[in-house]
Order: sequence, then C-alpha cells, then structure tokens
Amino acid sequence: MTKEPKDYVAANRAAWDEVAPVHARQNQERLLAAFRRPGYSCLEPVETELLREIGIEGRDVAQLCCNNGREILSVKNLGAGRCVGFDFSARFLEQARALAAAGGIDCDFVETEITRVPRDYDAAFDRVLITIGVLGWMPDLAAFFAVPARLLRPGGLFFIHEHHPALYMFEPGDPVDPPRLHYSYFNQEVYEDKDGLDYYGGSDYGARPNYWFPHKLSDLITAALGQGLELTHFEERPDEISGLFSELGKAALRPPMSFTMLLRKKA
Ligand SMILES: C[S@@+](CC[C@H](N)C(=O)[O-])C[C@H]1O[C@@H](n2cnc3c(N)ncnc32)[C@H](O)[C@@H]1O
Repeated sequence: MTKEPKDYVAANRAAWDEVAPVHARQNQERLLAAFRRPGYSCLEPVETELLREIGIEGRDVAQLCCNNGREILSVKNLGAGRCVGFDFSARFLEQARALAAAGGIDCDFVETEITRVPRDYDAAFDRVLITIGVLGWMPDLAAFFAVPARLLRPGGLFFIHEHHPALYMFEPGDPVDPPRLHYSYFNQEVYEDKDGLDYYGGSDYGARPNYWFPHKLSDLITAALGQGLELTHFEERPDEISGLFSELGKAALRPPMSFTMLLRKKA
C-alpha cells in the first residue's frame, strides 16, 4: 500500500463519523437512561479496581480516543476531578455531550486528531487513559506516546487497557478447538477493513474502508519508553474485552487476550 499515514487518518476519521449514527441507534437511548442514574459506570471491573488502586478521586483525567464518552463520564462518576475526552469524530462527540448533559456530568469533549491535542492541555492531567481499541488506529507509535508524555504532570500515570497484540494472529469467528493461526505475529502490514465498524450489531451499512495498524508488544513498550515514560505495571490477561473474539476468549488453549499497563511520567 502506498498511501501516506495522513491519508489513513483522514479515511479513518470519515469511517468513524460514518458509523456514529449506526452505534447511536443501538446504544444511545440505553446509555442516556444509564447516565441519568447518579454514579453510573460502564467501566470493566479490572479498570475500576486499577484506577482506584492508583488513585482517581480528585485527579484530573484525560481520555484519548474517547468515542461516545461513556468511559470518561464513568471515570468522572468515580469521583475524578477535571475530566476531558479527546477524539477526532465530531459525531461521536455529539453523543458524548448528550450523555454528559443527561447525567448533569461536568466533562469537556474536544474534537482533535489525537497527535494534535492543543498545547493548552500540556501538563494538565494526573491520569491519561486509553481503553480497548485505540493503539491499532495509530500509524506512528512515537507520535502517539508523545501525547500522554506531554499531557501528564510529572509523576502522572498513563493507564492502558487494551487488546493483546497476539490476538491479531487469529480470525474473529473462527472455530477455536483448537484455535487456528491466520497471521504472523510479526505482520506489520496495514490492514484494510471493508466490513465496517458496527461491532455492536454487525450490520452492513455500506461502510467505507478503514485502516488498522498491527503493532508488536515490544514496539508499544519501546515507543512508550522512548517518550520518557517509565513502566510501573504490566499484566497480560486472559479476558476477552471487546466481544470480537468471544469464542477464543473461552477456549482452553487461548492466547493472551488483553493487557493492563501503567506508565509514569518521570517526576
Ligand atoms: C474503538 S474506539 C475505542 C474507544 C473506547 N474504548 C470505546 O470502546 O469506545 C476508537 C476511537 O478512536 C478514535 N480515533 C481513532 N483514530 C484517531 C485519531 N487518529 N485521532 C483521534 N481519535 C481517533 C475513533 O474516533 C473512535 O472513537
């Protein structure tokens, strides 16, 4: 493939905006009702536990690639201080603002390509967070990890809960007894997906293509350390957290499915 990374990013932004109303039809009413309940949280138990362990109450928190905002709004409901969600999809951010309004939750949402978060936010946060389904959208890991490195205050923590890169050796929906390998772990080719991003309903909405970037675990860690972040926690986990590989997540011979990681900005 010969496209420049900026073309991939523009294509992905259009693809996310395109699927936003498709997701909204399936989720928004339920989420509006949920956020009207004081203290509602959609976070995974492992996320809540780890956030509480590192301290979240009163801390200023940013979520990168926050989608419809349900996770950063949940973080705010855990007692966080100033909360800001960043994403390049204007249409998902509209949903996020509607959820915040429904719950009367004080949280800002900023439309931006993630490597271009405005400099006003530098050193403004104690915690920066990403959850499942972010790193694979990033063509340039050094540029990506530079963002938490500048948004965090010294001593602040970058919290990651993500798919394990080993998962991308498998094909979603394949038989899993035993699991069959499809792709090399070392495959670094850009993946063009034409099936669309309706991972809730699996509908065919005539999606435009989106582009995905497989990364090795060592690339992630090297890129993070290269931005001056220190690794303070890393756990590979058996839990399948996206629904994409739910059968594989129950297989006896399963690969690592997800991981949690904490990276500290040097004090
Ligand atoms: C799968 S969602 C992950 C977020 C969250 N964990 C969730 O499940 O909703 C990926 C989000 O990343 C955003 N995104 C992808 N690439 C981006 C980029 N280069 N800059 C800003 N946002 C980006 C998309 O708009 C989308 O909302």
